[in-house]
Amino acid sequence: MQTATLLQLKHGQTKLVDLKEVVSFVRSIVECYGGKRQYLMRMMQEIQKHYGYLPREALEELSKQTGIPLVDVLNIATFYHQFTLEPPGYYIIWVCMGTACHLKGNADNYDILKNILGLDNHSKTTKDGLFSLEKARCFGACSLAPVIMITSRDGSERYLHGHVDPLGLRKIVAKYRSKAIKKIKEKKGGRK
Ligand code: FES
Repeated sequence: MQTATLLQLKHGQTKLVDLKEVVSFVRSIVECYGGKRQYLMRMMQEIQKHYGYLPREALEELSKQTGIPLVDVLNIATFYHQFTLEPPGYYIIWVCMGTACHLKGNADNYDILKNILGLDNHSKTTKDGLFSLEKARCFGACSLAPVIMITSRDGSERYLHGHVDPLGLRKIVAKYRSKAIKKIKEKKGGRK
């Protein structure tokens, strides 16, 4: 019987997670919300908050423990933009789509970033797992529009960049790419 699974398969940070942990974490969520179908999205949000995405194993367990068909759970996971079924990149680039930023060109900036990162319409995360690209609402920094925010996957880093333009975006991506590679190397070195 399989007892562990690789939950994160990107940027060289595969993480072996005990399936028992998945079962017990999902159980705690199900108990908290009474396993009720009306709270399905809330339970899924909790799972995503915990793992950074929705691991297939956790969704299967959620379905098993609540009796909600897996196909219904997967339909919600794929329909709503807030959910992701793949592990996020080391850095997540959030492009503000609030009114001020939209008017100052962030719709174009989003497309430019997609291009720089080599993403197609079906992927939000780069193949090397270094970046994910997301749209966001107003960061409350409209005077700096157009604005992007960069956060690390584990939430420990958060950077705001204002007045961004195409040339600036290239420099920003290059800077965070080097930074991510360096940090991943350091972490790998630290594990030796
Ligand atoms: S609209 Fe982008 S920071 Fe407010």
